[in-house]
Amino acid sequence: MPPEESNFTEIGYIVSCFSGVAKVHGIPHVFLHEVLLDDAGKEIGIVIGFDEKSVEVLLFDDDILLENPLYRSHRRFSIPISDGIVGRVIDGLGQPLDGETVLSGDKIPVFTSAPGIIDRQEVHEPITTGIKIIDATLPLGKGQRELIIGDRNLGKSTIALDTVLNQKNADPTVYCIYVLCGKKTRYMNHLVSTLKEYGAFLYTTVVAATSNSTFAEKYLSPFVGVTIGEYFRDRGKHALVVYDDLSEHAKCYRDVSLLLERAPGREAYPGDVFSLHASLLERAAKLSDDKGGGSLTALPIVETQEGDVTSFIPTNIISITDGQIYLERGLYQKGFIPAINVGLSVSRVGGKAQPPLLRQVTAGLRLVLSQQNELQKLTQLETVVSQESKKKIYRGELTLELLKQEKHQNVSWKEQVVLFYAVEEGMLDDLKEEQWVRFKGELLEILRNKYPHILEKIGDGVFDDGVKGKIKDIIEDFKKEILLKG
Ligand SMILES: Nc1ncnc2c1ncn2[C@@H]1O[C@H](COP(=O)(O)OP(=O)(O)OP(=O)(O)O)[C@@H](O)[C@H]1O
Ligand SMILES: [Mg+2]
Repeated sequence: MPPEESNFTEIGYIVSCFSGVAKVHGIPHVFLHEVLLDDAGKEIGIVIGFDEKSVEVLLFDDDILLENPLYRSHRRFSIPISDGIVGRVIDGLGQPLDGETVLSGDKIPVFTSAPGIIDRQEVHEPITTGIKIIDATLPLGKGQRELIIGDRNLGKSTIALDTVLNQKNADPTVYCIYVLCGKKTRYMNHLVSTLKEYGAFLYTTVVAATSNSTFAEKYLSPFVGVTIGEYFRDRGKHALVVYDDLSEHAKCYRDVSLLLERAPGREAYPGDVFSLHASLLERAAKLSDDKGGGSLTALPIVETQEGDVTSFIPTNIISITDGQIYLERGLYQKGFIPAINVGLSVSRVGGKAQPPLLRQVTAGLRLVLSQQNELQKLTQLETVVSQESKKKIYRGELTLELLKQEKHQNVSWKEQVVLFYAVEEGMLDDLKEEQWVRFKGELLEILRNKYPHILEKIGDGVFDDGVKGKIKDIIEDFKKEILLKG
């Protein structure tokens, strides 16, 4: 018996199927992204395209009996979303993976269009990562799309994860959605336990389609993630969605397209993979005040091979996003971690969104970093280096050391203001190299434990002579202590 809602009229039959990718005949009026049902009314697949003769379907389960008929639902693929989605771990179809109850709330279709230009406004509010090198030189704004790109195992996911952890004290709340697509189950478990350990599940949802998941789950997971983000964005709140990673998503779509015998294009990817990812990333936005002023920030991750950013998927996504954070193996091997190459990275809208005080004290930082390599070469070539150059090299080396950062050790932007102000004013010029690491670690502790009121003032935008003088005193005292102890 067909389910009631299918209207009895249109029945589909699977004519070919491999790994859950099926071609179906019948159901002539079915529409794109419509959900198909079995005769018990259970959702068993989604329409993802058409060719001249058949309907292209992704099945939700591998063990569906292929001879059974499929029925129309007249509904687009949707998932239930409510405030209760915070703290949950769900799969690519919106089903719980955390052993809790099924999701509740109004069902929202996951394929919708992005807000138009009239409904948007310029990105202008900061969203800080707690990662010094990013906040100082590549600041991000709410509503921005910033790509994290680099070879395997260079710390891409760690940057995204630390950005999520850094939202812990965000005011107003930034709701985070971490989408895993095609990653190992082991990594999912690690992610979930880290989020728990740092108390991040109070504002985070995980959508996980692992490498063992069906094509349907992998294909849908980023769209499920962005739809959850939109739920908050459209209610005047702020959301941050991480897509880890879109190379795997593209590969999944390539496999599906090849199984459907669609014409392969460059690197065997189907031509429309660009529009697939554009339609996903365009949904990131800072909405106009009329629309509630909410925002959705997107952090897609892409893996490169041998640092090659000119291959198909990286170039596509670079062109869709508002900038990229580029990680480099050479830096990682030198121990400069996070291994971000500032020269090759860019944030096209973030500058306007950087906290003004941080902007003030980091204005010369990119220049210092870009000159550093040249200056280092100079010391190797010439025996006599001018006093001026020596000072510059020292400052450059010191800055590089300060920008190194352990994972999950977030530094708030207010603390960064103190740190970079001290460098800029030359307060650290008399430290010895071996004292740098101790200095940066312990200074933060002192600030957090003894001088929270100074940080609070900076947070309120106060950076007058009083605050500056106090910073000088704190650092002079601390230096005396370090220098005394040796
Ligand atoms: N700032 C950091 N401090 C210390 N270790 C780090 C830091 N960033 C990354 N790592 C370590 O580097 C390794 C790779 O990190 P991560 O998994 O984030 O990289 P990835 O680029 O996402 O890798 P994959 O390609 O496997 O997805 C991990 O062992 C991680 O713990
Ligand atoms: Mg990763």
